[in-house]
Amino acid sequence: MKALVIYDSVFGNTEKVAQAIGKALGTKSVTVKKVTEVGDSDLKDVDWIITGSPTRAFRPSEGMTAFLKKLAMGSLKGIRAVVFDTRIPLETIKSKAFRFIVSKGGYAAPAMAKVLQTKGAEVVGKPEGFFVLESEGPLAEGELERAAAWVKSITKNQ
Ligand SMILES: Cc1cc2nc3c(=O)[nH]c(=O)nc-3n(C[C@H](O)[C@H](O)[C@H](O)COP(=O)(O)O)c2cc1C
Repeated sequence: MKALVIYDSVFGNTEKVAQAIGKALGTKSVTVKKVTEVGDSDLKDVDWIITGSPTRAFRPSEGMTAFLKKLAMGSLKGIRAVVFDTRIPLETIKSKAFRFIVSKGGYAAPAMAKVLQTKGAEVVGKPEGFFVLESEGPLAEGELERAAAWVKSITKNQ
């Protein structure tokens, strides 16, 4: 079983989650790569792709969006996909109005799931968000452990 963890990260938090997920996949053949370094050959014979992006203005980062967009239609047929993002916890946003906007705006992971599906992947598990305490981090306590447990629970019986 071959897995490719593809992440984007501006301040390093999503990268940390991606590395923890790669480690949690354990004995399987796993590569963890930044989205800008992923080439066509990386996707060859891959059974699983796990994509992670910071949520930027309710969406995946520009780099992740561009990467997903350029994948050919149907090119991910037979591949299982798992998606996650990093985001700010709603309750830490002080302005009520801004909190409302963010709550309605959406997050990167569900958006990635939609695109991956249109490219032929079978999205497994629910899109998940991991929390940063401020835009630049750090990650909230326990998030790396939560990410590891989350990906194990999704992939264990597959
Ligand atoms: C320009 C910008 C836009 C952002 N937009 C959102 C957003 O819409 N929702 C959210 O929860 N967090 C938002 N954030 C916080 C990011 O999600 C946070 O910076 C990211 O999770 C950190 O991950 P990284 O260290 O991998 O870059 C934004 C941050 C920046 C700088």
